[in-house]
Amino acid sequence: MEVNKIYCGDNMEYLKTLSDNTIDLIVTSPNYNNWRNKRTQANRKLYWERTNITYDNCADKEDDETYEAKQVQIINEMIRILKPTGTICYNHKDRIFNFEVKSPLEWILKTNAKYRQRITWDRGGMQAYNPVRFYRVEEDIYILGKEAKNFTWNKEAAKYLSIWKIAPNRNIYKHNATFPEELVRRCVEAFTNKNDIVLDPYNGTGTTTKVAHDNGRKYIGIDNSERYCKIAEKRINENL
Ligand SMILES: C[S@@+](CC[C@H](N)C(=O)[O-])C[C@H]1O[C@@H](n2cnc3c(N)ncnc32)[C@H](O)[C@@H]1O
Repeated sequence: MEVNKIYCGDNMEYLKTLSDNTIDLIVTSPNYNNWRNKRTQANRKLYWERTNITYDNCADKEDDETYEAKQVQIINEMIRILKPTGTICYNHKDRIFNFEVKSPLEWILKTNAKYRQRITWDRGGMQAYNPVRFYRVEEDIYILGKEAKNFTWNKEAAKYLSIWKIAPNRNIYKHNATFPEELVRRCVEAFTNKNDIVLDPYNGTGTTTKVAHDNGRKYIGIDNSERYCKIAEKRINENL
């Protein structure tokens, strides 16, 4: 694969074509397979309609075993193509199924990745109420690597600490799960230098690739929606 390009298609198929030890940073957020996250069976339809995040070309409705096996597979593939000095910033969140928490760590710890840190992304205080638990306002960014030490790390970024309060985007580009640019910018600042290669295999509307480009890094973006890929290219070419 060439750098400074957006690729439209299945991420695993593209990742397989990359050589070992070539990528400096991966900032990514997969689809969450959130469909079982319903409060009760009784209000299931209503809740599903209210909370469902949909994508152009990904139903996001797999059984848990299939979903988790695929996540293990793709994290292992990301680790393979990552340089020993590289970092993966993997955004996911605890989901509640049948009143119990399901943590992404359940599959992350099955991968070949070294688990270096977890950043809490505080999405901020909307006035919301959950009758059975404290309303959650956070997601997580799991910081993973091929190696647990000696990775690229720009010390000035230590000022951000481990809880990042960054407001989420509203539904921009008709895609309702985009990264705020600031979140990606902090990852790029902390874990790369100029001209390093930044990849997002779930690139969506291309926040990772745009931020990488704007900060003088090389980029590769992959998404299986042609519409999102066109937006990602436009954001770079027209500086949106
Ligand atoms: C949470 S969104 C990422 C949004 C992105 N961070 C942004 O800022 O726009 C997940 C993306 O993964 C894409 N996707 C899901 N399965 C995929 C696959 N197998 N190959 C490539 N892309 C996939 C979806 O189209 C969706 O845009």
